[in-house]
Amino acid sequence: MRMIAPSILSADFARLGEEIRAVDAAGADLIHIDVMDGHFVPNLTIGPDVVKALRPHSQLLFDVHLMISQPERYIDAFAAAGADILTVHQEAGVHLHRLVQMIRAHEIKVGISLNPATPAGTLEDIIDEIDLVLVMTVNPGFGGQKMIPGALKKISRLRELARNREKPLLIEVDGGITPETIGPAETAGADIFVAGSAVFKGTGDYRANIEALKGESA
Ligand code: DX5
Ligand code: ZN
Repeated sequence: MRMIAPSILSADFARLGEEIRAVDAAGADLIHIDVMDGHFVPNLTIGPDVVKALRPHSQLLFDVHLMISQPERYIDAFAAAGADILTVHQEAGVHLHRLVQMIRAHEIKVGISLNPATPAGTLEDIIDEIDLVLVMTVNPGFGGQKMIPGALKKISRLRELARNREKPLLIEVDGGITPETIGPAETAGADIFVAGSAVFKGTGDYRANIEALKGESA
């Protein structure tokens, strides 16, 4: 079963609590929250106070994607705000192992994200320490972009790197997921599918949009 994580980056920011309740009721499996700092990526979005304010609106896992430089400065704040999965970028972490330990200390799930040009192999020596890899299939910063052709290739390499683990590695894909691109992403080996525009834009029928992504609409 495909797990769908609607990205609230494409939701109505004036009604975020309501939007989260709506996608929860419509069959979402996780809530994906994109945190951007205007430095690691050009855009600015959500801080820990907003995550904290949203926390009571759903019991689904909050999947917090930190697209920020020096993520070590904010790990504790996002964990305290209610993140269940905290994902940092490989490219933003000078001391990735220390960052993983910092997140792990909060007893939440640890993710590392890879930009499209970052090889899977950069995670070889940390893969056994983490719960999830978030594979970016667009350049991070904005919703509504087209999936980069070839961006799914590294998923099989990640599976190969994770072959000796006791617990299976979760692989999440993020960027340009639509009812058309989700099939190839699943075939490549992903478990969790982030979708911003494919859930929140269009008709406003979130249930139909999520069902279309899960392949249940026909
Ligand atoms: C992009 C974000 C994504 C974004 C996906 O930097 O990490 O989570 O919201 O949006 P869509 O699904 O519209 O590509
Ligand atoms: Zn994201």
